[in-house]
Amino acid sequence: MVQIAVPKETAPGERRVALTPEVTGRLIKEGWGVRLEAGAGAEAYYSDEAYRNVGAEIVSREELFKGAQVVFTVQPLERLDLVQLEPGTIVAGLMYPHRSPARVQAMATGKLSALAMELVPRITRAQSMDVLSSQATVAGYVAALIAARESSRFFPMLTTAAGTIRPAKVMVMGVGVAGLQAIATARRLGANVWAYDVRKAAAEQALSLGAKVIELPISAEGEGGYARELTEEEKKIQHEALAKEVGNMDAVITTAQIPGRNAPILITKDMVERMHPGAVIVDLAAESGGNCEQTQPGKTVEVNGVKIVGPLNLPSALSVHASEMYAKNLYNLSKLLIKDGQLAPDWSDEILAGALLTHQGEITHAPTKALIGGA
Ligand code: NAI
Repeated sequence: MVQIAVPKETAPGERRVALTPEVTGRLIKEGWGVRLEAGAGAEAYYSDEAYRNVGAEIVSREELFKGAQVVFTVQPLERLDLVQLEPGTIVAGLMYPHRSPARVQAMATGKLSALAMELVPRITRAQSMDVLSSQATVAGYVAALIAARESSRFFPMLTTAAGTIRPAKVMVMGVGVAGLQAIATARRLGANVWAYDVRKAAAEQALSLGAKVIELPISAEGEGGYARELTEEEKKIQHEALAKEVGNMDAVITTAQIPGRNAPILITKDMVERMHPGAVIVDLAAESGGNCEQTQPGKTVEVNGVKIVGPLNLPSALSVHASEMYAKNLYNLSKLLIKDGQLAPDWSDEILAGALLTHQGEITHAPTKALIGGA
């Protein structure tokens, strides 16, 4: 029986777990053995008993990795854990290779097959394994709720005996997966929503959710459906046009990202100065530097009465559903790893090959290899 191990996450603030009891039960029915560290699901409100009830084994961390052929995690494992794994073990989870080259090197040295879930190619066949999408959906929803909570105004229009309240004006900058969910959520709360992105395809999707689209003469479609970095000239056009719009908003939610780079600055200091006191900015890109010049990752700062929120790890705020979606992504990936009850990954499969970070002692992901210096 192929054994999967699931540790309790140890990263500060991480509340998700890689497998839920429901997905664990499905895997066990399909012939996998699943072992979890005691308390692995506690922060997502899944008890050890719930896992035992579907046939999983609950063990201590010392026991966890013995005989494991596959390890499922949310955050990357620390080197202390990695050295306990047998050569050939498959480890699947978020890896952030650029943040810790030493960890990638340790996985290569340990001859582990590391699958970075964030590198799963965004092709149709892999949509059900796409953790970037599932977790961005959670983040976008929570970002809109934070904006509403931190705002000094109602989001919906209200007609009351004490007068009529106009709906809040909310702008979403960066209309990828998270941005679309932020638009949908702010719309459900009754706000008037404006959307801005540098990709034309995003405009159509924002319109269909009831947002008004801010159109600029910039089209920055990059590779694979992502955006590319803007030229200095484009940045100038963008700044001038957006400064005026942002000044009118009650809340701005930013989600703009460019793969492999720091997040682009969309809201400069002078733009914050033009916003009215009581307005709020929720910067979803805080983790990769922020879309607002004054964002402080993990903090809320107030500048001339404008609140700037830089939340980290928003999916953890909704640990139950974020874990549920993440676990289903892993479940779908597991189908590529096993055949007739035996571990039999086809490493040439486009999905596995795209996500494979280290294998048989090598760093197999070219950009990471280049970053680490051909190790
Ligand atoms: P992301 O997290 O990399 O970026 C978020 C958004 O920021 C993107 O829409 C991007 O265009 C925008 N952005 C970047 N620079 C900007 C700037 N200077 N100003 C304004 N906006 C800026 O993107 P995400 O959400 O991961 O997805 C991006 C694309 O990938 C979308 O087109 C999405 O439909 C596509 N996608 C395709 C999938 C598939 O085919 N399986 C799965 C998921 C997403």
